[in-house]
Amino acid sequence: MKCLRSVLRVAWPAQLRPFITQIPARFKYTQHQGVKGIRNRKSFYEAQMQAGLQEQSDPTAVSSGDMRFLDDRAYDEVAGGAMRISRDVATAQHVFILQPYVKWSAKRTTPDNVTPDDQLAEATALIHSLPNWQVARSLKVPLESLERKTLFGSGKLTELKQLMTDLRQERQVTCLFVSKGTLSFAQKQFLETEFQLPVLDRYSVVIQILRLHATSAEARLQVAMAELPYIWALAKDASVTQTRRQGYSLSDLQKEILRTRERKLRAELDGVRRQRQLLRQKRKQQNYPVAAVVGYTNAGKTSLIKALTVQDKLQPRNQLFATLDVTAHAGNLPCNQQLIYMDTVGFMSDLPTGLFECFVATLEDAMLADIIIHVQDLSHPCHSAQRAHVESTLRSLAFSIAGGDPSAGQLPPIINVYNKCDLLTPKAQLAAVAQLQNTAVGHLISARAQTGLEPLLKDVEKQILAATGRRKLQVRVPSGGPEMAWLYKNAAVVDTRADEQNAEKILMRVVISQRTLEQFKREFC
Ligand code: GTP
Repeated sequence: MKCLRSVLRVAWPAQLRPFITQIPARFKYTQHQGVKGIRNRKSFYEAQMQAGLQEQSDPTAVSSGDMRFLDDRAYDEVAGGAMRISRDVATAQHVFILQPYVKWSAKRTTPDNVTPDDQLAEATALIHSLPNWQVARSLKVPLESLERKTLFGSGKLTELKQLMTDLRQERQVTCLFVSKGTLSFAQKQFLETEFQLPVLDRYSVVIQILRLHATSAEARLQVAMAELPYIWALAKDASVTQTRRQGYSLSDLQKEILRTRERKLRAELDGVRRQRQLLRQKRKQQNYPVAAVVGYTNAGKTSLIKALTVQDKLQPRNQLFATLDVTAHAGNLPCNQQLIYMDTVGFMSDLPTGLFECFVATLEDAMLADIIIHVQDLSHPCHSAQRAHVESTLRSLAFSIAGGDPSAGQLPPIINVYNKCDLLTPKAQLAAVAQLQNTAVGHLISARAQTGLEPLLKDVEKQILAATGRRKLQVRVPSGGPEMAWLYKNAAVVDTRADEQNAEKILMRVVISQRTLEQFKREFC
């Protein structure tokens, strides 16, 4: 396995080897090969990448989504080692989840209203999002700090080691998932040696899920990009922890492989971003209002859009990060105005920023929408922490998209939607209604049972009309005349009725923007 371990010339424990893909002999590079060895392999790698870059200079490359360069064995070997598990997500795994939490309030890293049980439930849901992955055991472990190299104290370590050895021997466990954002290189290495199992953290599990759900060219590029900060951080961490003591460092070839890949991905993503801008401009020209639907992962964003647009093709899934692309879906407001709902990637807390940043390009569309619909799972025990997480991420996204200018980083108006109220007890439903009546800031709905959608749609209509400067007005035009045809084509017609005072005229209620109204006046008045 050409992974950080082999680069650093650290032997894998025998039990870990089955998880690691075989390294072709030609990639079995060690630092002792000297400068020439590095140069030869580097030129071989660069020749491969050059072929890919030439393909990319074809202007159709981005749009056609030529992703052959993602099939990069040399890179896979570096990445596979860092991720600690086969890149083939179809491989069945029996996972032991360890949920560490900090006992003392001063050092606590989670919001007050999120308990270790809630964190463990989220970790379990992450594992269940991967087909063939099962939770063999799970355990919460109180700690004094999450930063210790050994993570656990010596007593707890001995206890866990015994447990792991028993389960491993009975083949009940194939890997260990420590549910913490990222583990340092030293922590991973220590735990792997102690437990003789591959050790995963949240970052590497989420990457597996994202890889599984990334089907479009853009999503695959973003997921590929999301791996790089993780590998760099581990490599940096490894050289800091190891160099001084054992003289290991990341090889020049490995660094070059990572850098070349990063350059290539950035170039591709820039192309995707340009295409996005073109699409956005096109939408603007067509003058469709846009509502971005955002929320914590699994809150019910896709389900809500399906309910509001009656799109049979949309498939809500009980999986985390099921949606990795921003997709557009046409819907109608009660006033017949058409609008576009944008489905977006879900948010999740305790993910390192590097991972989330890769999806910023797609979320830019949400930030530039006319309104945001924030879908929340009201039945979730951590509902308020999830809500706070999404709100603060949206604020920081708006800030970074505005280039750090606080006055420009304004968010579009937000409508709060409290979903899954069918899962609340009648008492909890009443309490939620009472709270909403007091604050009047949101809608209690069930996307699945299709309740509460009418008042929500009315509110969406009100906010969209205000945000886009459209208004409802009544015009009197000749019945069957060109004015009527023009309005049907260029405005949203709410309804029509005969003019009782003039049989040749008709009264039309329309939703129209100021700009379109001016055009109408120029044409007919
Ligand atoms: P991601 O794409 O992973 O971020 O998920 P999402 O927010 O788009 O959620 P999605 O619509 O895929 O729904 C997630 C799960 O919640 C699915 O199993 C849905 O059937 C379920 N769900 C959605 N809305 C409701 C609801 O109102 N009530 C109930 N009981 N379940 C719901």
